Amino acid sequence: MNTILAEFRAHPKSIEIQRYLSDKLSAKRLQHVLSVQEMAVDLAFVYKADAWQANLAALLHDSAKWMNAKALYNAVRCYEIRLDPIEKVSPSLLHPLIGVKLAVEKFAVTDLEVLEAIRNHTTGNRSMGIISQILYVADFAEPSRTHRTVDFVRKLAYSDLVNAVHHVARAKIEHLLEKGVMIHPNTLHTYNSTIASVEN
Ligand SMILES: [Fe+2]
Ligand SMILES: [Fe+2]
Repeated sequence: MNTILAEFRAHPKSIEIQRYLSDKLSAKRLQHVLSVQEMAVDLAFVYKADAWQANLAALLHDSAKWMNAKALYNAVRCYEIRLDPIEKVSPSLLHPLIGVKLAVEKFAVTDLEVLEAIRNHTTGNRSMGIISQILYVADFAEPSRTHRTVDFVRKLAYSDLVNAVHHVARAKIEHLLEKGVMIHPNTLHTYNSTIASVEN
């Protein structure tokens, strides 16, 4: 493990979040979060982004993933979150929204880039900052993921992050089409806004 990751994991804020995650998430999900954390911190170094922001965003991105659909919709009501028509019928799109609320209210995170990254980690968005891009890619391509394009995307992530973002969006769109379910416009925006990265 690199030194900075070990330092981040020993930071009181990380420990506080890790305790919550150990309590709430399955062992498999927790391992996913820790793998995302490792890859996100690595990528932050590669792209000279703020590694602490990457660390926080990664640690917190699935903090609401333990909730079932009913609990998620209840939390949406409690926090008075306004859902768009696709979110209204797609429980899998809700944990980023509740994750942002947990980050602010439970862990006193106020950094907008961190919150934006948590918010965007499932669908992406048309204009993502570097922390959002890093989390979006690390969430898809961390080593325990099994999608057939993971190895390709993980390699690409270290040389051309925007291109990697494009390929994550593309893989997600293909997966959603195969399942025959709705595609959130932000996923399409992510795909469209990064297509230039694969043309040159
Ligand atoms: Fe997630
Ligand atoms: Fe995740």
